[in-house]
Amino acid sequence: MDIVFDQAEATFDRRVVLKPLSLRLTERRIGIIGLNGSGKSTFARLINGLLLPSAGRVVTNGHDTATHAAQARAAVGYIFQNPASQIVLPLVREDIALGLQSRRLAKADADRAVAGALERVGIAHLLERRAHELSGGEVQLAALAAVLATSPDIVIMDEPTNQLDLRNRNLIEQTIHALDENVIVVSHDLALVSGFPRVLLFHEGTLAHDGPAEETIDRYLKLAA
Ligand SMILES: Nc1ncnc2c1ncn2[C@@H]1O[C@H](COP(=O)(O)OP(=O)(O)OP(=O)(O)O)[C@@H](O)[C@H]1O
Ligand SMILES: [Mg+2]
Repeated sequence: MDIVFDQAEATFDRRVVLKPLSLRLTERRIGIIGLNGSGKSTFARLINGLLLPSAGRVVTNGHDTATHAAQARAAVGYIFQNPASQIVLPLVREDIALGLQSRRLAKADADRAVAGALERVGIAHLLERRAHELSGGEVQLAALAAVLATSPDIVIMDEPTNQLDLRNRNLIEQTIHALDENVIVVSHDLALVSGFPRVLLFHEGTLAHDGPAEETIDRYLKLAA
């Protein structure tokens, strides 16, 4: 993983929500914390080109998100703050297969990729289930499986433990820890990012702190007090 922000800025309706920022992310586990509206999701969306910088550049694994959008996007699997909104087809297996369509795999290979992805996150039994009937924890895991099926180098999860009970929260935490992929987690669940080598703290559209988890969390606790 190699993500470079070069004076990258984000604006909505001419309002700057992320001030020009330069940094490089290469650690396998990155956490992003901060108050509501501080710019965390905006920062995450810049990484895969869901949002393009209004100034500066974002280069993900060597691909400029503005000029090489498809390559940048292919490197990143993104799980939204509300993953239920990512579900479009009725059955779990159909929904996961949808993400593989652009690969033009033979049916048997696509089926194997779908089953393998569900197995990796421990939900092989949900293959034939209706996606809209899944529980919150199951939706989160199914969204993760859908993303993993596309073999991304980087997985971005925006608030993955939001609204989950303690058991599902712990399951998501263990699943994240076990992933071979690079993971960027945006979260208000500070324990989730507590062991991470690098955690970024956003505050009012700026990077207020960038350091190991304990240091950044400590800073956030003071800032929020
Ligand atoms: N599509 C949009 N149009 C206009 N303003 C937006 C849009 N998306 C985000 N913003 C604004 O940008 C700012 C940063 O939002 P962002 O979603 O990045 O915050 P966040 O740190 O992820 O917050 P939360 O913890 O609540 O998810 C907020 O003021 C928000 O209202
Ligand atoms: Mg957000």
